[in-house]
Amino acid sequence: MIIGTWQSGGSSWKTVSTDTAHAALRHAIETGHRDFDTAPSYGDGVAEAALGRLLREAGVSDARVFTKIPPDRLRRDQLLATARESVERLGRPVEALLVHWPAGTMGCEPVPTEEIAHAMLEAKAQGLTRRIGLSNHSLAEIQDFERFAPVEAAQYAYSPLYRVIEADVLPYLRGLGVTPQAYSPLAQGLLAPGPRAPIGEGDHRNWVRLFKGDLLAQCQAFRTTLIEAYGEQDFSAVVLAWVRAKGLSPIVGIHRPEHLDLPQRARTVTLSEEEVARIDAWGAPLLAQVDGQLSMWG
Ligand SMILES: NC(=O)c1ccc[n+]([C@@H]2O[C@H](COP(=O)([O-])OP(=O)(O)OC[C@H]3O[C@@H](n4cnc5c(N)ncnc54)[C@H](OP(=O)(O)O)[C@@H]3O)[C@@H](O)[C@H]2O)c1
Repeated sequence: MIIGTWQSGGSSWKTVSTDTAHAALRHAIETGHRDFDTAPSYGDGVAEAALGRLLREAGVSDARVFTKIPPDRLRRDQLLATARESVERLGRPVEALLVHWPAGTMGCEPVPTEEIAHAMLEAKAQGLTRRIGLSNHSLAEIQDFERFAPVEAAQYAYSPLYRVIEADVLPYLRGLGVTPQAYSPLAQGLLAPGPRAPIGEGDHRNWVRLFKGDLLAQCQAFRTTLIEAYGEQDFSAVVLAWVRAKGLSPIVGIHRPEHLDLPQRARTVTLSEEEVARIDAWGAPLLAQVDGQLSMWG
């Protein structure tokens, strides 16, 4: 179970108080969590700086931190400078450095794959990261990158409500022996416990497919089905266990100290093959509707 820090960056999540999110991170460290996902783009360095400071204050030296290179920092010199800044903020080399989004996405200039892959290898050779990898890249983009460098880590949107990678990316990564990390395993709150507040103005979820129109109604119906089957107390832990049963490591985005109870509880849940198949079947109608899009935004 990996602790996600996007919420600790503030800005994109209108449900979050940054101070409380940092208190949650402190609590995660104090209760023994050692795997953390972050990125320079989470509050423009705010999440990385907070995580680095809290790890230093706690005297923790054995944390494994995963971070990323934004798509507007993919030229060789930018990539290496960005990786160095992350390592400085975090106060340690990272466990894995990922290309956050493919080159040329989000209105950024395209950069040749060869340049990106070689710069990632340089970052590794300089001791900034132990492994290199990709996030949000299609199978063709993974294979293109592999012409120049190995893919040693990977991160994708994945939950019972968002299973696009099952078509080709997931089996391919399994073949490489890479355990992908699943971000948004709780579908950004749609499958989290407790009453759900309406999404406020300026919250990035206003642009997430699952939070729109008919799809939102279907996600809510799926949530109700899970609650009927497993109860209000346990259904979110079942969701995280389902992700693990599929062979991925869930990254849970927390922003309150009490949120840490859920990943703890999820560790004790194991699902039978029949239960996994039953949840698959409940979510199957949603699969068709996200139309093969790896990105949840759009
Ligand atoms: N590689 C990438 O492109 C990428 C993209 C997205 C995320 N990530 C990483 O993955 C992490 C997780 O993904 P995510 O944050 O998008 O989605 P998520 O983990 O599915 O959902 C996080 C949201 O679920 C709610 N939540 C979580 N734990 C809860 C609990 N115990 N009780 C009640 N509500 C709870 C909160 O919703 P409310 O805010 O409504 O309270 C929280 O903001 C991020 O923090 C980030 O590190 C990576």
